[in-house]
Amino acid sequence: MTEQDRPSPHRPRPSRRLRFLVLGGTGFISGAVAAEAVARGHDVTCVARGTGGPPPAGARLVRADRDAPGALDALRGERFDAAVESATLSLRRVREALRAVSAAHWTFLSSISVYADTHTAGQSVRTGRLRPALADESLCYDPARDPEPSQAVYGGVKVACEEAVREATDGRAFVVRPGLVVGPGDDVSPFGHWPLRMARGGVAVVPPDVAADGSPVPAQCVDVRDLAAWIVDRATERTAGTFDAVGPTGRLSALLADVAKAVGADTLELVPAPEEVLLAAGVRPWTGPRSLALWPPRALHGALSRDVAPSVAAGLRTRPIAETAAAVLRDRLTRAGAPRPVAGLTPIEEASVLRLLGR
Ligand SMILES: NC(=O)c1ccc[n+]([C@@H]2O[C@H](COP(=O)([O-])OP(=O)(O)OC[C@H]3O[C@@H](n4cnc5c(N)ncnc54)[C@H](OP(=O)(O)O)[C@@H]3O)[C@@H](O)[C@H]2O)c1
Repeated sequence: MTEQDRPSPHRPRPSRRLRFLVLGGTGFISGAVAAEAVARGHDVTCVARGTGGPPPAGARLVRADRDAPGALDALRGERFDAAVESATLSLRRVREALRAVSAAHWTFLSSISVYADTHTAGQSVRTGRLRPALADESLCYDPARDPEPSQAVYGGVKVACEEAVREATDGRAFVVRPGLVVGPGDDVSPFGHWPLRMARGGVAVVPPDVAADGSPVPAQCVDVRDLAAWIVDRATERTAGTFDAVGPTGRLSALLADVAKAVGADTLELVPAPEEVLLAAGVRPWTGPRSLALWPPRALHGALSRDVAPSVAAGLRTRPIAETAAAVLRDRLTRAGAPRPVAGLTPIEEASVLRLLGR
């Protein structure tokens, strides 16, 4: 049983066994949604090629390549209580599913990348201006050819997908816009670096507490298990509307201190590096090679400081980051085939920054 499959003692049993369709279900977020629905006793069908591994135990897998003609034919004649669409960047797949699938409630996994302004803090679903919709069905996420599509393309296609979902479902859609999603099973976010780094101990370079312009360096993320629980809750209640899915706003320094407290070795010491030192050392922000994981460029401060109040009012509950860090560390140390984190300084790169700091 994986961390995601493990039932929570607080999970309410369903008053009625629902038929859930997860378009996806073998990957990170969609797999967590399928696992949560199974754990609550629902009848869960996943649709995927299966290259992301099997769906959670207890779910049925309908094997299909959604780029092949008639990919969803196997579902014709079936009626679901809830459908959850996880297509990353494909208006064509989203429209095809809306045509082929019959479901009483529809969840669409969008993204906060739909927002045009990533700079200004405190924006909400109501106040955030959207990117122009990109209603081009030929665009499709291809991680092999373009692992990092531009935000204008990714966000623009998501806007077009949201519009297609709202239009086709006649007000029955729960459109959820996640920010940074972390937790067990995550192989793509920069968060994954920190639990491993803190557990190793020694002197760790961490981002500065304030940016060069004096503004606090923010962090905001949501545990995939909390996101999944919220999606299943809202599908069960047939909630409609559009919501961000992000955790509480806070400072990155506080988040990393909590991670250190949860999983850090006794020898661990955190040393914040000022922005000018990091830039002089050629350290990149946020993610990728030679990056200081989660250190956001100034242009992303707004995207990491969104107003979560409407989502909390709609039932989103988030666990302490310490719990997430412990689960991520366990997952990283025990999951066969877990790749190396995509972000973070190597020990040699970290030592070169420490030398500049006189350590
Ligand atoms: N990860 C984040 O931090 C984040 C943040 C904001 C928004 N989102 C959004 O959340 C959603 C889920 O993201 P995720 O990265 O966690 O994805 P995921 O759950 O791993 O979902 C991808 C699913 O799609 C399936 N799939 C991919 N290509 C397919 C094809 N040709 N035919 C059939 N199935 C196919 C995959 O299964 P197979 O490979 O087995 O086919 C997998 O089950 C996406 O819409 C993403 O844009 C994610």
